[in-house]
Amino acid sequence: MERTFIMLKPDAVQRGLVGQVIARFEAKGCKLVGMKLMKVDRALAEQHYAEHKGKAFFEPTVNYIMSSPVVATVWEGKSVVAIARELMGSTNPAGANPGTIRGAYGMDISRNVIHGSDSVSSADREIALYFKTEEILEYDKAG
Ligand code: CMP
Repeated sequence: MERTFIMLKPDAVQRGLVGQVIARFEAKGCKLVGMKLMKVDRALAEQHYAEHKGKAFFEPTVNYIMSSPVVATVWEGKSVVAIARELMGSTNPAGANPGTIRGAYGMDISRNVIHGSDSVSSADREIALYFKTEEILEYDKAG
């Protein structure tokens, strides 16, 4: 079954949006198979955003996700990578549909509430960065 990595960024935790954001994934029907509140260190942050190394926003983005706890999650479901991207909306909250998470809760591209994998291969890479195999749980979900 397909999996995706979703991070609720420091602004989501600081603003008390964790429950509301998680609720959208649950309501959609995505299956939660991994979750932890954690601090991200520099090595992990730089690996996470490695594809953006050299871009102007790389260093501020790395520093930002290290600045305060995040909630790292893994969700499972058919086409869950694409479904999660629909739920999140455009990277820049200023242009995101107001029905999406970034559109509803964000104002600023650097404080855009949530990160989600952009492909199945990114999801595999990101899940392996943040979770040990045994931290991803297998169980039957009703509905
Ligand atoms: P995210 O989906 O976590 O992936 C990279 C992050 O870099 C992005 O969300 C934004 O929060 C941040 N970022 C800051 N400035 C830019 C920019 N100009 N273009 C893309 N991403 C940016």
